[in-house]
Amino acid sequence: MTKRSIITIPDPVLREVCAPIETVDDEIRALSDDMLETMYDAPGIGLAASQIGILKRMFVLDVAKEDAPKEPMVFINPKIVWSSEDMSVYQEGCLSIPEYFEDVERPAEVTVQFLDREGGEQEIKADGLLATCIQHELDHLNGKLFIDYLSKLKRDRVMKKFAKQAKLAVKA
Ligand code: NI
Repeated sequence: MTKRSIITIPDPVLREVCAPIETVDDEIRALSDDMLETMYDAPGIGLAASQIGILKRMFVLDVAKEDAPKEPMVFINPKIVWSSEDMSVYQEGCLSIPEYFEDVERPAEVTVQFLDREGGEQEIKADGLLATCIQHELDHLNGKLFIDYLSKLKRDRVMKKFAKQAKLAVKA
């Protein structure tokens, strides 16, 4: 397993739409292992392939409580086939937008179809943090970020802050 570096805004790669994975092979399994290692190391509870610069439809997550055993999950070619009308609000963050947190409202429950690490077809109904996390990560595969749900004022402010930091980093 190899830890990869995580891309942050304003890198345009994060706005790309990812392509479906045709075959779940050893290369994809190795990639999922790298993504999990990168996510745990960050630390974070979810990571999409585009966040490490790989434009494939795949994300990993683990929403187990900190003191509970790890529950790594791999979602390949995920599709939300049902969303509840009930909404819920969670304070979200993103490894590509470090140390920035805001409340986001999303459907409280979703049903998602995907392929697992072995290429098997799966369908789960999720609620709570898992439902929010699945929607946040799936957005990444479509080039969407949680700040897109905020007011333009807030989004512009955070984009400006990170653009400035990126410029300083290049100069350093
Ligand atoms: Ni994210």
